[in-house]
Amino acid sequence: MYFITFEGCDGSGKTTQVSLLTNHLQSRGLKCVTTKEPGGTPLAQEIRSLLLKSEIKDPITEFALLSAARRDHITNLIQPSLVQGITVICDRFFDSSLVYQGLKKGLDLDFMFDIHKKVVGALEPSLTFLLDLAPEIIIERLQRSANREINHYDAQPVSFHKSIREGFLLLAEKFSSRIVVINADQPIENIAKEIFEKFSMLTKT
Ligand code: TYD
Repeated sequence: MYFITFEGCDGSGKTTQVSLLTNHLQSRGLKCVTTKEPGGTPLAQEIRSLLLKSEIKDPITEFALLSAARRDHITNLIQPSLVQGITVICDRFFDSSLVYQGLKKGLDLDFMFDIHKKVVGALEPSLTFLLDLAPEIIIERLQRSANREINHYDAQPVSFHKSIREGFLLLAEKFSSRIVVINADQPIENIAKEIFEKFSMLTKT
């Protein structure tokens, strides 16, 4: 069983690809569960509502809330699933904190890694798919998707999405054995095919 995470800017197509990978694996008889952060359990979902309601300016407070949600998510959903041999596919994880609260809002990265170690223990994603997209395309996509829940994280200028993208690419360079960068400016089926192929390489190692 594996712990797979998806990362990227809002509007990069993570949700679609999470569900396509899940269907693909389930059709091949692999047990898997789909989840997301912040969220995934009733308590974490309540914390998510707090985080999305209005912007929390202080990154330590924001990271503390995200970590509390993550701890509950790991304890009550991720670990128990992995122990039962179920693959977990998660939309966002700690890389998002490193980019949004760390690289973007300036929270000290060593501090974040320290807290993270205490929150998650030894758990690490087996593989992370980074869906990479130019900020101009992101803005266009976010404006087009009228029926999605718009929150303060979405209402950002191109420069914001540009720095988030750069943050993720920096992490991909640093953790190159775990993070696979996928060009998200392609037809959905092509992206999915690339993801299935990378996943099957993981299962062969
Ligand atoms: P997400 O659920 O992916 O947004 P949506 O459902 O609108 O696609 O995430 C909500 C926001 O939370 C997203 O803009 C990024 C932010 N976020 C952080 O700032 N730090 C984190 O650690 C996580 C997991 C998310």
